[in-house]
Amino acid sequence: MAGVPQITLNDGTSIPQLGLGVWQVDPGITARVVRDGIAAGYRLIDTAEGYDNEKGVGEAIRSAEVPREDLYIASKLRNGAHQRDLALKAFDETMQKLGIEQLDLFLIHWPVPGQDKYAEAWATLVELRQQGRVKSIGVSNFNEDHLDRIIEETGVVPVINQIELHPYFPQLEQRGWLKRRNVQIECYSPLGSGAVLEDEAIAAIGKAHGKSVAQTILRWHLQQGLIVIPKSTHADRMKANFDVVDFELSDDEMATLSGLGKGEDGRTGSNPATNNDTF
Ligand SMILES: NC(=O)c1ccc[n+]([C@@H]2O[C@H](COP(=O)([O-])OP(=O)(O)OC[C@H]3O[C@@H](n4cnc5c(N)ncnc54)[C@H](OP(=O)(O)O)[C@@H]3O)[C@@H](O)[C@H]2O)c1
Repeated sequence: MAGVPQITLNDGTSIPQLGLGVWQVDPGITARVVRDGIAAGYRLIDTAEGYDNEKGVGEAIRSAEVPREDLYIASKLRNGAHQRDLALKAFDETMQKLGIEQLDLFLIHWPVPGQDKYAEAWATLVELRQQGRVKSIGVSNFNEDHLDRIIEETGVVPVINQIELHPYFPQLEQRGWLKRRNVQIECYSPLGSGAVLEDEAIAAIGKAHGKSVAQTILRWHLQQGLIVIPKSTHADRMKANFDVVDFELSDDEMATLSGLGKGEDGRTGSNPATNNDTF
């Protein structure tokens, strides 16, 4: 079976195109879930301070049968810690919980425009990268105005913008301005947090390839060069979601999935322009 491709980022580093997300994974089972994920072949693990499960991710890293350098660990700065001193402290806590020397990727979780401190948070991430404590830095849920502001203030372009992206919410406009700035898209809620899994058109396409709806959706992401991080707590589903590199959707099939967008109704998460939650 072919392996998961690596995507080269604008700072010269590379990231596996398919990873495991652990949002809403109970802290008590996170170590087991991540261990199952690594056993299934996942090398990229996406956690966040706000998920409250970094400790479990750290436990799994330490007991994994693959060396640390083969794993790609990503976490995110929580919304209430955008101020420099708080961000530095939060990062220290993240590293302590994960129990690793260097993080592969650290993202600003949300811009929180009402708080208006994301530019300060970005400058702090730039510092952490200069110190070598994190290899790559990026953002999540950033709109064009948020992105341009941090680039203007620091001259540093994020490697990634992690955004909600799936067939019901394909983010066509976002793709254009992110591509122009050489920022890679990492797709969260790739299955619409489950909302796309009942789709009959996708089921029919999947059936023709002997694949499930989830596998067909993830294949659609991969064929567009998008990074994707599905979540599951079930070992069999994790395995199935990882088994998506050995088939190919035709142009017509790709177009069918791409035509399922529902505009703003397709969004399952919060809107970054208005989300001012300060967890
Ligand atoms: N940056 C952000 O603001 C942000 C926001 C949301 C998510 N994320 C990241 O993106 C990751 C994925 O997004 P997500 O957790 O919202 O949703 P998702 O990956 O789109 O979907 C997960 C849901 O689908 C189910 N599922 C997964 N594989 C399945 C399969 N093969 N068959 C049937 N059901 C399946 C899971 O249930 P089971 O677990 O029971 O299998 C879960 O309910 C998160 O874990 C997190 O790392 C980031």
